[in-house]
Amino acid sequence: MVTRKTSISRFGVSLEADLLRRFDSHIAAEGYTNRSKAIADMIRKEFVSDTFNRGGVIAGVITIFYDHHKRELVNRIMDIQHDHSGIIISAQHIHMDHDNCLEIIAVKGLCPKIKELSDSLKSIKGVKHTTLSVTTVGK
Ligand code: NI
Repeated sequence: MVTRKTSISRFGVSLEADLLRRFDSHIAAEGYTNRSKAIADMIRKEFVSDTFNRGGVIAGVITIFYDHHKRELVNRIMDIQHDHSGIIISAQHIHMDHDNCLEIIAVKGLCPKIKELSDSLKSIKGVKHTTLSVTTVGK
């Protein structure tokens, strides 16, 4: 196995005392035990958000919840996914109860394409809830 070493840089940050207190309290509530990891996560979150806003390449997960008894709904969902096969990595279908299904669709690609897929699924009549969660592709 090849391991790639990441070099670590240290830097000092000057903050208002009250802002630092609030920051420490905030990250403690989120389970962080040190500031470095919390700050690194915030920076990455900002980069993901920036990539999303600029229409760059992102990875993500779309979830859709729907009643599979609705006419034509399942076919419509399937057609849309086939039309976007280039950005869909995998899809998982879960039968939640007698009526309802949950689909989890893992995606990777240009943000506008992913948004278009998510919006197309969301706007289908009978789809009860849709979420789009985005993350980095690691670059
Ligand atoms: Ni089902």
